[in-house]
Amino acid sequence: MPDNVVRVCSQAEIAPDTVKAFEIGGRTLAAFNIGGKFYVTDDECTHASASLADGMLDGEVIECSLHFGAFHVPTGAVKAPPCSFALRTYKVLLRDGDVLVDLDRDAAGEPA
Ligand code: FES
Repeated sequence: MPDNVVRVCSQAEIAPDTVKAFEIGGRTLAAFNIGGKFYVTDDECTHASASLADGMLDGEVIECSLHFGAFHVPTGAVKAPPCSFALRTYKVLLRDGDVLVDLDRDAAGEPA
């Protein structure tokens, strides 16, 4: 397993079509279960300081609760202003019922 692969949570901790924040090695990540597929991104909105896990998940789009900017979860692409910088995504791996991420690789739009 690559050095920078870390466990985020168990798959059962994230109900379908919800998002939760987890503290992992000094950073806060948002873990999503979208229709049974798992995605992990940075939790902090790229516009200002807001937790995306407090936002509204609508299909594959997470809307920030602070100024209602939005991102496409699988790719991190901006979907609504005032956000202008893409959200960092992470490559997800599923092992033994757990959600892991490779902190050195982005998701490239691929779920796990
Ligand atoms: S902090 Fe998220 S849209 Fe402003």
